[in-house]
Amino acid sequence: MRKPIVAGNWKMNKTSSEAKDLVRQLVPLLDGVKGVDVVLCPPFTALAAVSEAITGTQIDLGAQNMHWEKSGAYTGEISAPMLRELYAHYVILGHSERRTYFGETDDVVNTKVRAALSSNLHAIVCVGETLEHRESGKTEQVVAEQLRGSLAGLNENDWQHIIIAYEPVWAIGTGRTASPEQAQEVHAFIRGTISNMQDSAVAESTRIQYGGSMKASNARELLSQPDIDGGLIGGAALDAANFAEIVKAAV
Ligand code: 13P
Repeated sequence: MRKPIVAGNWKMNKTSSEAKDLVRQLVPLLDGVKGVDVVLCPPFTALAAVSEAITGTQIDLGAQNMHWEKSGAYTGEISAPMLRELYAHYVILGHSERRTYFGETDDVVNTKVRAALSSNLHAIVCVGETLEHRESGKTEQVVAEQLRGSLAGLNENDWQHIIIAYEPVWAIGTGRTASPEQAQEVHAFIRGTISNMQDSAVAESTRIQYGGSMKASNARELLSQPDIDGGLIGGAALDAANFAEIVKAAV
């Protein structure tokens, strides 16, 4: 049985004090909710505040990105040990916004994934096709390439700390969600690809989140698909009630 995992990717939203307010609203709404991993990924500047605000709750902390080196002359960057010291246990890597606006390639993502694992962080690794890819029938080819490139060279133990997020680029922030059938089709394909890359036991135990305009009103249907093991939530994660409903739908 794969335990569902719902993560909020706040992107470049919420100052430190706004982040604290959001967590304060969220904590009572999730009180007593069990059987699901919940992760909040605020911007770097709000990590410390959120870390403190979630102490003693079942909510875990994640970052949205990191550098592959532990320290050094990399102006503007943040390392895995810096995240660990704030009690972050997850990091999102290879988000399509990082790939599109900051030129992150599969090789870069792979280097970051290895660095995250060697610092005992769980990596939420994002893959997904653009509308152009989908319309030209290249979804599976693109997703397989991203998986093989971003997750090259991992061993069985490494895979225990990997979560895949399938985020079709055309569904991110657009209000246009993949239908449950469209999402399930790609999730099943991703599981098959992991089985080919590693083995079927790893494929069966790896959690695959869906991301892209997931919200309270469509979460239940998406999450009821056999290969959808949770969600990576953008816009709807900025609203405590909406996010809490999604978390409950995953149980
Ligand atoms: P939205 O939920 O705002 O579409 O964003 C999805 C996403 O990119 C999460 O990482």
